[in-house]
This record gives sequence, structure tokens and C-alpha cells, in this order.
Amino acid sequence: MTDRITLSVIKADVGGYVGHSSIHTDLIETAKEKLSNAQEKGMLIDFHVTRCGDDLELIMTHKHGVDAENIHKLAWNTFVACTEVAKELKLYGAGQDLLSDAFTGTVKGMGPGVAEMEFEERKSEPIVIFMADKTSPGAWNLPLYEIFADPFNTAGLVIDPTMHDGFIFEVVDVYEHKKITFSCPEEIYDLLMFIGAMRRFIIRAVYRKDGMIAAAASTQKLSLIAGKYVGKDDPVLIVRCQAGLPAVGEVLEPFAFSHIVEGWMRGSHHGPLMPVAFYEANPSRFDGPPRVIAAGFQLCNGKLIGPRDLFDDPAFDEARRKANEIADYLRHHGPFEPHRLGLEDLEYTTMDQLMKKLEGRFQPE
Ligand code: F6R
Ligand code: MG
Ligand code: MG
Repeated sequence: MTDRITLSVIKADVGGYVGHSSIHTDLIETAKEKLSNAQEKGMLIDFHVTRCGDDLELIMTHKHGVDAENIHKLAWNTFVACTEVAKELKLYGAGQDLLSDAFTGTVKGMGPGVAEMEFEERKSEPIVIFMADKTSPGAWNLPLYEIFADPFNTAGLVIDPTMHDGFIFEVVDVYEHKKITFSCPEEIYDLLMFIGAMRRFIIRAVYRKDGMIAAAASTQKLSLIAGKYVGKDDPVLIVRCQAGLPAVGEVLEPFAFSHIVEGWMRGSHHGPLMPVAFYEANPSRFDGPPRVIAAGFQLCNGKLIGPRDLFDDPAFDEARRKANEIADYLRHHGPFEPHRLGLEDLEYTTMDQLMKKLEGRFQPE
């Protein structure tokens, strides 16, 4: 136990309604009941249950620190209970993100995505939690770079003396299971060389130079965890805002540009990341295009005051319109790259089978 507050966002897809497009309300209700029991027992200070597409999102505050076994177990048991409901209703892909039958001390490496941070709550603590569906953790690289290192996005980097020193990025190599930090702005060219390759190098956290944590992202990639495709690794991201950190508007600003991410149909296509209001987070066209929602909270002694639906703003209409235009343009490529991902990144493929079947028909050219 510590005096500091921990904010844990733990998510999983434990059953879709209909197909992979959304979530049945019974799952939300079940999750609320489980977390409410934990709150009554004093384990949680507060919680909020929501969803983005087919992903169930558990937002929890507590005093147990990051990677706390009891909190991870609570999330796991909640997902198991929701899986039971999903099975009863024969919802699609019931339990798909729970890769094990038993809990072994952490949800990390077991399917769910996790973003957590522990900090001292400031005089006022505005927080934005981003949640995405039909994409993967590399989707946060570009916006995180813009928020914390791009002066064309974040005016505060230039004109606020408390932000002028810049930020430190922690980057994970998800293939090699290694991490490295870059200090910016001094090392932005080095940083960009890595994070531009957003399949392999993923920003996990951002710190102010005095060590204060500013952002934390989920970096779990299900396809790497399971060694084969078992569902999408739809990511979450926590960003603290204001007063020496980027303003809420600076944190949202990168999403006014619908950048191209991997995911969408069968986790095997490039598509635009569309910022939407909560009620629009139901990717249905070609199982997409990929969506992102932004839930704003003010923390008050660990209580989650909110959420405010931050993309429910006509100022993001143009990003949505552009995303539809880009979606149309990419869709016209059908099975051709770069709409379809490169061979090595496909999460569904018939290539091995075809190569075997057609082996004898290949002739020297
Ligand atoms: C993408 C996603 C969906 C499914 C697709 C096929 O992340 O979840 O696009 O890949 O609907 O699903 P299955 O193979 O279960 O029929
Ligand atoms: Mg699903
Ligand atoms: Mg999903």
C-alpha cells in the first residue's frame, strides 16, 4: 500500500456483439457488478467500465501500485465472469483474449492489454484515456510523438517555461523484449528512426525530465504473445494533462489527423484511425475502419470524475470525413498492398498452404 494513486486501465475482448463490431450491455453490467463488489470491499477507490468496439475496458483507481497481483486478478476474474455471460448468449469469440485457463499473478502476457501509472495526485489532475479498436499498440507512436515532442502540435513546448525542457520517451522493442529511453528534443531524430517502425518499436511511457510520469500505454501484442493470431491487440493509453504537461487540447490535437494504422479487417490491413464519440465506436464497415475514443476524467482523491466524451466535438468532423475518404481510397485496392499488410505481418494467411500445394508447379524462370 502507498499514499500515491494508481490508475489501471485493463482491457480484453471477451466476446463481440454482433461479430466483432461491439459489445453486449450484459457484459458491461457484469463487469460493473464485479468491480462494484471490489470497491465495497475497499480494494478499489473508484472504477469506470466502458467499451470501444468489441473491447471491454476496466478503468480502476486504487492504492496498490502498478502490476499489483490483486488488481490484475480482479480484472482477470471480471473477464472470466464476462466470458461466462458471453458464452451463455453465444456471443462471438467468447473469451478470445484470455489465453490461459488459470491466473498466474499478472494479466501481462495472458491476453488482456494493460496501461498503468502510479503518481501523486496534483492539485487538479485532468487525465485523458484513449481506447482503440481494430488496431495495435504502435497506433499511439505518432500521436505520442506529436503530443510530447512536436512544437507544431504542442504550443506549450515552445511558449510554456514549465514544458520547454522537453520529455523522455521509453520505447520497447517488442520483438527482442528490450527497452530504451530517448531524451527529447535532443534525440528526436534517433527516436523517430525507431518509433517510425511502429510494428516493432512501441512507446510505452513518457516522463517529464524531473521524472514525473506523463503517459503510459499498453504494449501487449497478442500475435506475439500467442505465437499465432488470436485476436487484435487493441491498445489503451493514459495521458496526464495541463500545468506543466500538454493541455487537454494539445493531447487531443494529433487525432484531428486520421493517420494510417495496421489492423482493420482480420488484423491484416492498413486503414485510417477514426476519432469518434463513444456511441460511434462500433466498427462495422469491413470490420472498421479502426476507431479511437477519448475519455476525459478529473481525478479527485482517486475518484474518477467523468467521463467527458472528448471526441464528441464537431471540430473532429473533418478528421472523420477524411478517414472515410481514406477508407474508400484504400478499400479500392482490395487484396493489394499497401491496403493489405505485407506477407510477414498478415494475421490471416493462406500463403504457407498455397506454397505447399503449388510447390511442384514452380519452374525455374
Ligand atoms: C479484426 C477482427 C475481425 C476478424 C474478422 C474475422 O481485429 O477481429 O476483423 O478478424 O471478423 O473473424 P473470424 O475469423 O473469427 O471469422
Ligand atoms: Mg473480437
Ligand atoms: Mg477489438
